[in-house]
Amino acid sequence: MHQEAEAFIRQCYGELGKDSLIENRVDEVIDSIESTGTYRHTYEELEYGAKAAWRNSNRCIGRLFWDSLQVFDCRDLQTGEEIRDALFHHIEFATNKGRVRSTITIFSPESGIRIWNHQLIRYAGYEEETGIIGDPASVEFTKECQKLGWKGKGSRFDILPLVIQIGNQKPKWFSIPEAIVMEVPLRHPKYNWFADFELKWYAVPIISDMRLEIGGLSYRAAPFNGWYMETEIGARNLADGFRYNMLPGVAEAMGLNIKRNTSLWKDRALIELNQAVIHSYKEDKVSIVDHHSAAKQFQLFQNNERKCGREATGDWTWLIPPVSPATTEIFHQSFEDRMDSPNYYYQKKAYEERKPEL
Ligand code: ARG
Repeated sequence: MHQEAEAFIRQCYGELGKDSLIENRVDEVIDSIESTGTYRHTYEELEYGAKAAWRNSNRCIGRLFWDSLQVFDCRDLQTGEEIRDALFHHIEFATNKGRVRSTITIFSPESGIRIWNHQLIRYAGYEEETGIIGDPASVEFTKECQKLGWKGKGSRFDILPLVIQIGNQKPKWFSIPEAIVMEVPLRHPKYNWFADFELKWYAVPIISDMRLEIGGLSYRAAPFNGWYMETEIGARNLADGFRYNMLPGVAEAMGLNIKRNTSLWKDRALIELNQAVIHSYKEDKVSIVDHHSAAKQFQLFQNNERKCGREATGDWTWLIPPVSPATTEIFHQSFEDRMDSPNYYYQKKAYEERKPEL
């Protein structure tokens, strides 16, 4: 851990223009690691680390705003109820009545706190004989919630409970109060029939299963959010054949021949689905960015990075939007896909880790 810690301290204080503090802090951190096996970040280090980890997230198109991340330090919370309340607060603060604020809530590192949810707010998926009801991506996690005693209504859009685990204790689940979950019913600016699909989506995507690594320390519970880009909902969540699979329905309602590839029915349906998402979020004053604006913002991010003597790293396959990718500048560029530190990492699903005797 020495090396990562020292490199992080130098980077952090260097970028923050506090070079005079570096040597003392490095000594302090190394002493701490030698005597206790670990060290504790100051709030300033934690805040910088979380922001820099976002800046280094190669798959994220929204990184222009990395420096405006709101960082909540919840490292001293210990009980399931305290953690639950911090998560409720995160949801409310980030939602901000629709003016979404990029936010991260960081719990104690290497303390055995895990949030089982993939996102704090997500829809359940139920496997029935007739097919899947709800979000197929949630089937596994929904089963885990049911094993813990949660019961859903069985609708296509049931909000899953928060599931919090502390160390080897049995995880606890908590329903999220409806009042703090903002959702947007989807309608189309021209096609009145669109509302009859009774589709909706939630306002804020809060990823809660990734590990934040800063200076050799792992924060395994550190949920974070930005705001949506319309394609995430309109071209993936509602469109993928293995998700809500809405393209055939929308295309038929548009009067397109879904038997012929050459009618481009999938492409036409995609555009209208995405148009409905943008229209509905905008009308309800819930933050959303379209993929053209997001791609422009990404160019600004790249420019800013160059001005600071860095070259933005990236994963091209994720950065290009799934709708009309070649209309954005990103498509015509290439990126080095190098994982700089700090960063956010996938980790084994909490419910798949070998559970010692419960
Ligand atoms: N793509 C994921 C979803 O559709 C969310 C990932 C994070 N997205 C964001 N805009 N911060 O739910």
